[in-house]
Amino acid sequence: MTHKLRVGLVGYGKAGSAVANVLSNDPRFDLRWIARRSTPSESQTHPATSIPIIGVDQHPFADLLEQHPVDALVDFSSPASIRDYGSEVGRRGIMLVSAISAYSEDDLAYARALGAHTRVLCSPNITLGINFLIVAAKLLRKIAPFADVEIVEQHFKEKPEVSGTARKIAETLEVGGENITSLRLGGIVGHHEVIFGFPHQTVRLTHDSIRREAFGTGAAFALTQLADCENGFYTFDDLLLRLMRVEVLNGN
Ligand SMILES: NC(=O)c1ccc[n+]([C@@H]2O[C@H](COP(=O)([O-])OP(=O)(O)OC[C@H]3O[C@@H](n4cnc5c(N)ncnc54)[C@H](OP(=O)(O)O)[C@@H]3O)[C@@H](O)[C@H]2O)c1
Repeated sequence: MTHKLRVGLVGYGKAGSAVANVLSNDPRFDLRWIARRSTPSESQTHPATSIPIIGVDQHPFADLLEQHPVDALVDFSSPASIRDYGSEVGRRGIMLVSAISAYSEDDLAYARALGAHTRVLCSPNITLGINFLIVAAKLLRKIAPFADVEIVEQHFKEKPEVSGTARKIAETLEVGGENITSLRLGGIVGHHEVIFGFPHQTVRLTHDSIRREAFGTGAAFALTQLADCENGFYTFDDLLLRLMRVEVLNGN
């Protein structure tokens, strides 16, 4: 990227505000505005910046994008909002990085179709570390299909369900849910470990989430990678594997 990428962020909740911290401090990006569902009662800016926070109830995306153009949208709002900005994003060729975790099949088909007009990435888990762990585990599984595999996930006491990330790791490695061990204790944000048991050695791949800002690091990675891609629909795996091909296999 030669110029700063102008970015609009959709969603200013728990994840969006942490993502705003990362994007607003990264010199590669010019975070132009943040959109949320409802207009704040008083005019609001992101702390320590002059980045405006705008409600789409009073400023629909068509007006927002006309008055404050951007090169990319990053979505940490809700599954519904892609239908609000989708046609504008496609029409204007704006890159989209969507981190929405709970899209329906219909929503995903809509996002895929947008890939005919612009570059679209959808990732239900957008941390760089977990995605790297999954790719590395997949590679080791291919190299050593004879090794035993167990997955351990640890989260805060109140989390009721088995981690979706652990289930995705199990699915990728073609092992069953019975190979996942879940521990619930204290305030652990998120710990995932894949253990490969060889006859004479053990390999452990571990990821710990520390702060929600990690979502921003993942979004920043996706933006920079997507900027070099053709129009199309991408997953985080696609971007990581593309980078590995360029950086590792070409010996750069
Ligand atoms: N891929 C990942 O790794 C990852 C990680 C974390 C979160 N997420 C996803 O990010 C989303 C937000 O999570 P969260 O925990 O931050 O939720 P949250 O705290 O409830 O915040 C949601 C934000 O989105 C805004 N919003 C909701 N619907 C909107 C719409 N139609 N148009 C514009 N803005 C809208 C809300 O506006 P108001 O403030 O006006 O209510 C709020 O600012 C969820 O879909 C979650 O799955 C993904």
